Amino acid sequence: MNICVIGTGYVGLVTGTCFADFGVNVSCVDKDAEKINMLNRGEIPIYEPGLKELVDKNISEKRLTFTTELCESIKKSLVIFIAVGTPPKDDGSADLSYIEEVARTIAANLNGYKVIVTKSTVPVGTGKFIEDIIEKGQGGEHKFDVVSNPEFLREGSAVEDFMRPNRLVLGARSEQAIAIMKDLYSPLYLIETPFVITDVETSELIKYASNAFLATKVSFINEVANICERVGADVRMVAKGMGLDNRIGSKFLHAGPGYGGSCFPKDTMAITKIARSHGYVFKIVESVIEVNREQRERMIDKIKGLTGELKGARIGILGLAFKPNTDDIRESPAMDIAEKLLAEGVSIKAYDPAGMENARKAMPETVQFCNDAYEVAEGCDALVILTEWNPFRKLDLGRLKSLLKAPRIIDLRNIYDPEVMKKMGFEYVCVGRGETKTGLTFASTFNAPVTEPR
Ligand code: UGA
Repeated sequence: MNICVIGTGYVGLVTGTCFADFGVNVSCVDKDAEKINMLNRGEIPIYEPGLKELVDKNISEKRLTFTTELCESIKKSLVIFIAVGTPPKDDGSADLSYIEEVARTIAANLNGYKVIVTKSTVPVGTGKFIEDIIEKGQGGEHKFDVVSNPEFLREGSAVEDFMRPNRLVLGARSEQAIAIMKDLYSPLYLIETPFVITDVETSELIKYASNAFLATKVSFINEVANICERVGADVRMVAKGMGLDNRIGSKFLHAGPGYGGSCFPKDTMAITKIARSHGYVFKIVESVIEVNREQRERMIDKIKGLTGELKGARIGILGLAFKPNTDDIRESPAMDIAEKLLAEGVSIKAYDPAGMENARKAMPETVQFCNDAYEVAEGCDALVILTEWNPFRKLDLGRLKSLLKAPRIIDLRNIYDPEVMKKMGFEYVCVGRGETKTGLTFASTFNAPVTEPR
C-alpha cells in the first residue's frame, strides 16, 4: 500500500516512519524544502529517542521517502494522513488554515478513491469541514472518505507509543474506509490493541477529552500539593494512596510546576473554546487552566521564600525542556519561570541535556548556558530543579553544596528526599511535601516506587 503523510512535524514524522516500519510505502511531504533535504540526509529535526534509527532503516529499505511534491504524493496514495499544525489563535481556538490549504490541494489532485485521515488534533467538526472542501473542490468525480484517527503519542516515547498504543481510535462513516485503516494498522491488531471504532465527531472529541482529563489530573494533584503544604501532609504519599485505587490510577499524579508542552496548554484551551462556541461553559477545564497558570506563579514565591529578595540574585536552573527526554521548550514551565525570574532582576545560569539549543534562541543573551549541573551551581545563590531529567536524580550533592554560594535547592519536581537534604545541610524546598508525621522515609515505608513511571 502507498500512503502519504502531509506535515513532517512531530506527529507526521513519527507516524510516517512507523508506518514504513510496518512495511507500508510512505511519502512524507512538507513544503519546507530545507527540512526535507535534512531528512533525506538522515538528519532528524527533533529529539526523539529511537526515531533516527528507524528513519535510517526505512530509508535504506526504500519504504520511506521525504519530498516537497505534494500533488504527486497525493495522486499515488490510497491513504493520505493530514498531520499539519493547528496552532492556537489569539483567542485560544485552533487555526485550521493549514488544514484548509491541504484539503484544497487534495481536492485538486484526487484521481480515484482515497481515504483522507486527520492525525493532527483538530476541533470537532473538522472532518466535516475537510469533506465539504474536497467535495466542492473536485465536483463529485471521485469517491473519498474522511477518517479521524487522533494520535496519543507522548514526546520522548513516541515510537513506543505508536508501536504499542493503549488503544487505536478510528472515526468514520464508511465501512470501506474502516476496512482500509484496519488493514494499515494490522500489526497492532495482531498485538491485540483495542480498536475504538466510532463516528468522526466522537473520535475528534476523544482526543481533546483525553488530554483535558490528563491535564485535570495534573492540576488536581497540584492543588492537593498546595493543601499538603498547609496541613503538613505529603503529596507523594497522597498520590500513592489515591493511585492504588484502580479507578483513579497512579499516573499523572506527580505534583510540580504545572503542565506544559505543545499539547496540554493548546488542547485544554481549545476544548473550552469548542464548548463555549456551542453554548456550554466547560467549568472544570477552565479551572484546570487557571490552576496551572497560578501554579507557575506559586513556584516563584517558593524560590523567593528561600532566597529572600530576588533582585540581584544569581539562580541556577536545571532543566529547560517541558519534560525529560525531549528538546521541546514550548510552553515549558521552566522557560516561563526563568522568564519571570529574569523580570524580577535575577541573573540566570542554566543547563538542559537536550533543550539548550532551543532555549538559547528564546532567551536573552544575558542567560549563561552551562555544560552540566555543577557548572550551573558554581557561585549561585540557589539551584532550581525544573525538569526531572534522569541525570539530575543522582547528582553529587556534596559537590553541589561546595560549589553553590549558599546551599539552597528548590526541587520543583520532587526528586530528592527532604530528610536527606536537610541532613546534608541544604536549605531545601519542594512541592507539596510537609513534614512527615511518622518520621519514616519513603524508601523505608514502601518497597515499591512511590509512584509508577508515567
Ligand atoms: C500529551 C499526552 O500525554 C499524549 O497522549 C498526547 O498524544 C500528546 O499530549 C499530544 O496531544 O500530542 P506530551 O505533551 O508529550 O503528551 O507530554 P506528557 O507526558 O503528557 O506531559 C505533559 C505535561 O504534563 C508535561 O509538562 C509534564 O511535566 C506534565 N505532567 C505530567 C505533570 O506535571 N505531572 C504528571 O504527573 C504528568
